[in-house]
Amino acid sequence: SRGCKLVGSGSAVPSLEISNGDLAKIVETSDEWISVRTGIRNRRVLSGKDRLSGLAAEAAKRALEMAQVDADDVDLVLLCTSTPDDLFGSAPQIPRALGCKRNPVAYDITAACSGFVLGLVSAASHIRGGGFQNVLVIGADALSRYVDWTDRGTCILFGDAAGAVLVQACDGSEDGLFAFDLHSDGEGQKHLNAGIKNSEIEHAVGSNGSAASFPPRNSSYSCIQMTGNEVFRFAVSRVPQSIESSLAKAGLNGSDIDWLLLHQANRRIIDSVATRLEIPAERILSNLANYGNTSAASIPLALDEAVRSGTVQSGHTLAVAGFGAGLTWGSTIVRW
Ligand code: ACO
Repeated sequence: SRGCKLVGSGSAVPSLEISNGDLAKIVETSDEWISVRTGIRNRRVLSGKDRLSGLAAEAAKRALEMAQVDADDVDLVLLCTSTPDDLFGSAPQIPRALGCKRNPVAYDITAACSGFVLGLVSAASHIRGGGFQNVLVIGADALSRYVDWTDRGTCILFGDAAGAVLVQACDGSEDGLFAFDLHSDGEGQKHLNAGIKNSEIEHAVGSNGSAASFPPRNSSYSCIQMTGNEVFRFAVSRVPQSIESSLAKAGLNGSDIDWLLLHQANRRIIDSVATRLEIPAERILSNLANYGNTSAASIPLALDEAVRSGTVQSGHTLAVAGFGAGLTWGSTIVRW
């Protein structure tokens, strides 16, 4: 049977750094409050002419270099992002930036902080059932574009980044993606969203079917709105359940896991999930302090740093979970 494995990782972050102290100059907060409540100290933010697709392409290029695979051998690009440069999708810009002569299939996946886990599972399905060979899965987000910089409850949390992995077809005996568990709950959208503004589209057609306003006015998206404690409660209950389900499907238990790699949203969420799963602190991967919550990028960014520092080594097993807006959440068990 056909399997798939992770063969390379890469990441990229913007150069502009914003510390907790910098934020304390624009909203009523302090380095101490932010560090204690979230574990975050710094974050990076896109600026000037920088584009998200540029950052994503840089991360992808590094993943290809590590895998020693030519960009022209990539046949599918999945760009997991909720903040594309182009509402119609930015994925086709990645092969263009990589200088591919043969254009692969490329499309965006929109699932906020769960995007990368959904991307990994999609890559595996495309390889197993669709005959694809080399799939770039990129998690890239620039939530700074939609942060309300006057809201201290949210502006302290987020940062911009990109991370990528190359998933490659292999013999089933070498399969490195063991099991997954995915969910959504539209009811919870009220707790975390960046919705379209009072859409004229809704009002454009009257109850009798006649146009109430024509032409309809164009719209745009609101800033991120979040009920922090609700999202916190959701994460600490659903994420351990999901990982337990993935572990059971893979026939493994917590002690078989070398590393717990969660979406980097909040240090207290990560610690709470680890405690519930009885995974000791020394088996947690986290770089939240340096980058904050980078949405779909956080998992591949932390993975890439851990691989390049030698922390995650060939043959290690990781429990990976994403969670966030939608609401969406899910987990997968992978071998590096
Ligand atoms: N500085 C100082 N005080 C603050 C700040 C701040 N930056 N932010 C909020 N406060 C105040 C509040 O106003 C409140 O004051 P009050 O008691 O006088 O009303 C007090 O601190 C407590 O506020 P809570 O929101 O209850 O604080 P909590 O301990 O829940 O921490 C936090 C807030 C850090 C946002 C936490 O709820 C959290 O991390 N939630 C999860 C959020 C998350 O991970 N979201 C991303 C999901 S991923 C995605 O898809 C984008």
